[in-house]
Amino acid sequence: MLRPEMEEKGQGQKSKKYQSMSQEIGLIDGSVHSFVKRSGRITEGQRRAIESLGPKYIIPYSDKFLVTETLFPQIKPIILEIGFGSGQATWRIAKERPEFNYLGIEVYAPGVGRLIMDLELHVIENVRILQQDAITVLKHMIAPASLAGIHVFYPDPWPKKRHHKRRLMQYPIVCLMAQKLIQGGYLYCVTDIEEYACFAKDSLDACSLLENVYGSFAPHQQWRPETRFENLAKEAGSEPFELFYKKN
Ligand SMILES: C[S@@+](CC[C@H](N)C(=O)[O-])C[C@H]1O[C@@H](n2cnc3c(N)ncnc32)[C@H](O)[C@@H]1O
Repeated sequence: MLRPEMEEKGQGQKSKKYQSMSQEIGLIDGSVHSFVKRSGRITEGQRRAIESLGPKYIIPYSDKFLVTETLFPQIKPIILEIGFGSGQATWRIAKERPEFNYLGIEVYAPGVGRLIMDLELHVIENVRILQQDAITVLKHMIAPASLAGIHVFYPDPWPKKRHHKRRLMQYPIVCLMAQKLIQGGYLYCVTDIEEYACFAKDSLDACSLLENVYGSFAPHQQWRPETRFENLAKEAGSEPFELFYKKN
């Protein structure tokens, strides 16, 4: 559970309601899974990519903060992506914005294999992968004030009210994310579910470490390519809701 004092000093009154809400449902205690077990079968190519190239790209779990300077060929500011799925946006962004290094988190093995294959194919050196629960990684492996940005594209929506406690973009978890950003670092979240977008916006607005850069929903950031889920959502007629916040 994220205690109130874990948010940095200067927290305003507005987050009181969310603190008691998060205490009620006991979040970030390791027992909340924000991901659905997906049934997609891993292909032979994806399995081989993980086996043979995993040691190059996948960072093993450790309960110590990462020494990020040792992870990439060049030292650059780091962007963390939570739940990259098949990684289609991940490698394209890494190629398009080479001035950053990227840490991608995903538990879905076929997605991890697929991203490794694309990193090799497109000769992309500035991406590393954590095949782990993102909340565990945030808590134990990411040092405070160490990230230049966080991407959360099309998080699992958990539409039923009784499942809202599994959502990634809830107050205690977005505060944990905010803690890990450097001053001026950004948090960029996109979803096509309007109700989830409003829920995420309420959580982000309540976190006093963060400021909504556009005051309301954000325009599309030109450098962000469509993700796989975005593509599926658009085919089904849904449009994205974008949220872009900065750490004060
Ligand atoms: C709806 S998919 C979106 C994938 C991708 N971002 C896209 O837009 O195509 C959400 C992804 O987040 C991953 N995910 C959800 N919670 C996670 C967690 N706690 N740790 C790691 N991955 C997580 C899921 O495995 C899933 O692949």
